[in-house]
Amino acid sequence: MVGAILVLSGAGLSAESGLKTFRAEDGLWENYRVEDVATPEAFARDPALVQRFYNERRADVAVARPNPAHEALARLQQAHGESVHLVTQNIDDLLERGGARDVFHMHGEVNSALCAACGHRWPAPDVMEAGHPCPACGAPAARPDIVWFGEMPYHMDRIQAALEASDLFVALGTSGTVYPAAGFRQMAQQLGIRTMEINLDASGALFDEVREGPASTVVPEWVSEVLNG
Ligand code: APR
Repeated sequence: MVGAILVLSGAGLSAESGLKTFRAEDGLWENYRVEDVATPEAFARDPALVQRFYNERRADVAVARPNPAHEALARLQQAHGESVHLVTQNIDDLLERGGARDVFHMHGEVNSALCAACGHRWPAPDVMEAGHPCPACGAPAARPDIVWFGEMPYHMDRIQAALEASDLFVALGTSGTVYPAAGFRQMAQQLGIRTMEINLDASGALFDEVREGPASTVVPEWVSEVLNG
């Protein structure tokens, strides 16, 4: 075992499960503007459009299945428990459905709802409308429990502590374009932590090791090496 591992995953982990990534030519940001569906200002301006966008994401996630990469990460975690931290920018629950637990969803979760008035969280209904009432305080202030641009990602203290205690940082299926997640590689390197990228189209030189290919092929191969190493 290579010691403690922190895996930061992005949309590429779930691409082979049929969930769109953000920045590919057919990506989500080709069909929607971030400023229309993924900012607090967008929600204030047109809550119905934002709720509709996440209702669509929630429906896509419901029919998606975990792929071998999700399942391999769960195997790695099951074999080495607390020395494997799974941090994801993804809002789907495919890692959990693939057998993982304690996943740090730093950008939130599409199956969770949040009350903008009282902070209450509850499992999101399949369809959430504008003005959806909070089951705790009754305010018509239910929103997707998603971290929008301009908001602070979740679990940052625990992620930072886990990163500092890692021996290997793996960036998996992420374009590394959105901070603070995009800064984790540099942070790892400054701490002398080995870095590896797994990506369909790897960015290359920036990492100590690069494994290029589809996650559902490359991740199981890597996990088998780690478990049999
Ligand atoms: N296997 C491995 N990597 C893949 C695959 C695949 N099958 N398909 C695509 N990729 C890679 C792409 O090469 C790209 O580097 O996944 C990455 C997807 O990049 P983005 O679409 O930018 O997604 P992500 O990095 O998760 O975006 C980060 O940006 O818009 C915000 O909040 C949103 O969490 C998201 C954040």
